[in-house]
Amino acid sequence: MKLALDGVGHAFFGREVFEDIHLSLAPGEIVALLGPSGCGKTTLLQIAAGLVDPLRGRVRRAYRRHAVVFQEPRLLPWMTARDNIAYGLRASGATRPSADIIERRGREVGLLTHDLDKYPAELSGGMRQRAAVARALAVDPDVIFFDEPFTAVDVGLKRALQDLVIGAAAREHFSALFVTHDLAEAVRIADRLAVLSEGHSGFVTERRIEGRPGERNDRFIFDLVETWSHDPAFAELFDSARKGLS
Ligand SMILES: Nc1ncnc2c1ncn2[C@@H]1O[C@H](COP(=O)(O)OP(=O)(O)OP(=O)(O)O)[C@@H](O)[C@H]1O
Ligand SMILES: [Mg+2]
Repeated sequence: MKLALDGVGHAFFGREVFEDIHLSLAPGEIVALLGPSGCGKTTLLQIAAGLVDPLRGRVRRAYRRHAVVFQEPRLLPWMTARDNIAYGLRASGATRPSADIIERRGREVGLLTHDLDKYPAELSGGMRQRAAVARALAVDPDVIFFDEPFTAVDVGLKRALQDLVIGAAAREHFSALFVTHDLAEAVRIADRLAVLSEGHSGFVTERRIEGRPGERNDRFIFDLVETWSHDPAFAELFDSARKGLS
């Protein structure tokens, strides 16, 4: 196991968010964490990543390095994309970030040399998020925590960015916890998914998704999302989506 949460519970100012959560990440495994808005996905991810101490339970980590990709790219505006990636490398302990690594990671996420020389303000939203993924990959992480990284980008681009993560995971064998509220995204990207409940009772359901990410075709993904959208265990997910639309 790369990561294990045992009986984790958390509350803010006495208000319970979730209790008795058990979750683990096997080597190379991608787990999608789903749930309606406000149910505690970000809190759980932050606990898993060690950014927040849980009130109860414990987190066991068996890896050297992790990286986090947030919903917003969080690039430093006064640095070029290249320097932002280098900054991530330095923060993880590299004394002299190699130019080759940065070029290669840039290329992997579809950023060319002249894109890497641009400042965040000169890049499109999608390119900024690509740079954030490159910054995460550059440190050779064993585990990556993604918190709704592609929610803010448009549909066509979203797919390209998902493919980028699927390809990188297959190549580099990192484990990942991937928070999303998009069931189709979870079914494309993950090996397994867990749905967190809104009523602080932990997971409503955990499912293994057949096949490997990247090998599932659109028909399979569409059909599975369709089936699960009628499954009571996923009801909160769709209720909140409907609430959001009204
Ligand atoms: N720092 C904090 N202080 C107080 N309450 C917080 C804090 N962070 C989160 N909360 C509360 O904890 C609950 C869970 O928040 P969290 O951000 O983990 O939800 P989420 O599932 O990630 O939601 P979303 O899908 O909207 O991102 C919410 O009720 C939120 O208001
Ligand atoms: Mg969140």
